[in-house]
Amino acid sequence: MSTNAFEPAANIFRERRALVLDELGDAAMVLPAAADACRRGADPCPYRPDSEFFYLTGFAEPGSVLVLRGFAGSKRSALFVRPRDATAELWGGKRLGPEAACERLGADACHPLGELGRELGALLRGASHVFFRLGSDPWVDRLVRGALAQARARGARKGVGPRGVIDPGAILDEMRLRKDAGEVESLRSAAALTIAGHRALAAELRPGVGEWELQAALEAVFRRHGGATPAYPSIVASGANACVLHYAENRRWARAGELVLVDAAAELGHYCADVTRTYPVDGRFTPDQRAVYEIVDEARAAAIAAAAPGVPVSSVHGAACAVLTKGLASLGVPATSGGKPEESEALRRFFPHQTSHWLGLDAHDVGDYGVDGASRPLEEGMVFTVEPGLYFHGDAVGSAARFAGIGIRIEDDVLVTASGVENLTAELPTEASAVEALMGAR
Ligand code: GLY
Ligand code: MN
Repeated sequence: MSTNAFEPAANIFRERRALVLDELGDAAMVLPAAADACRRGADPCPYRPDSEFFYLTGFAEPGSVLVLRGFAGSKRSALFVRPRDATAELWGGKRLGPEAACERLGADACHPLGELGRELGALLRGASHVFFRLGSDPWVDRLVRGALAQARARGARKGVGPRGVIDPGAILDEMRLRKDAGEVESLRSAAALTIAGHRALAAELRPGVGEWELQAALEAVFRRHGGATPAYPSIVASGANACVLHYAENRRWARAGELVLVDAAAELGHYCADVTRTYPVDGRFTPDQRAVYEIVDEARAAAIAAAAPGVPVSSVHGAACAVLTKGLASLGVPATSGGKPEESEALRRFFPHQTSHWLGLDAHDVGDYGVDGASRPLEEGMVFTVEPGLYFHGDAVGSAARFAGIGIRIEDDVLVTASGVENLTAELPTEASAVEALMGAR
């Protein structure tokens, strides 16, 4: 397994900016990187750049701002970065600084961040609109509003904008939805590391183990290989905790006879995997656990089998729901409401979330799931999760009461190829006996 964080070539960011500049036409875009947020006073905290800013620059220093001007003849991409500062760098590490930034990042103009207030009005003058996410950064927000107010005052005489604000996602979400070869490589690396983490966790499973110990075993693998971090707070949910969809306390001891639902994955080179497996604590599924488990795994397989270029993403969910509904019926648990399985209120009690979300720089990546009022057809380069589940809460009644406390989710990461799909996380077993065997290998 390659253990190095993927370092994309600088060219790819220039190419992406060129595409955005073409799309912008008469408009401009202002993209602030995420600010450096600290939890406790002066303590440093790990910094994770804003995904949109990173997507267009490959630059991961806090507090930068990128201005793109589709309409301009010069300074089409201007970058504002933190200035060099000996004292700040003594504490916080080396900064690139505006002089080196232009050469390294290939922007047309680079300035110290403090000059943004002075430059922004002029940079935006003549743009028809500004693509900017209102509220994303209070300081930049004020400056953009100021530029708009100025333009409104002047525009009445000169007939020039900018006169409106559009969310940058209108351009960037669509681009990010289709992954290029380098992004797919990053996602593969994140998936491989995630699989290694799950294997390490499975080796630690035993009655009496703490959820936090399992989390530590998994995340230690992430840290050891490429210094990766969890892509989202790791969910290690034993027993009925598995029925809490985003359980993240991880403070309970797992007991014999229970399941542990582990929804945890690595972020490597800023790209995220998202993987869930459900393990029996003592290495063997009970007959009831196995019955539910096999339904969920069949739903997972059916959903992946349904996916292909041109197939609407809603069909993937539909395929999973059909298997879950039928499987519940086979357990004596009615889950139909008469219409389509995916519209069944009764099923929603046991499967209250969607089967899929996009995956990329963010674990819940950007992109609309519908276009023109219909479900979006899958296209080559899209990456999404397939994560059916069944959850029987402690207060389950009637025929479902027998399964109370069982929560099972199984999640793979899937790439749409030219002719079908590829399961990027297929190497981590899902089949019940294979999961037992995986744990037997400890
Ligand atoms: N892995 C968490 C989620 O997909 O919501
Ligand atoms: Mn997910």
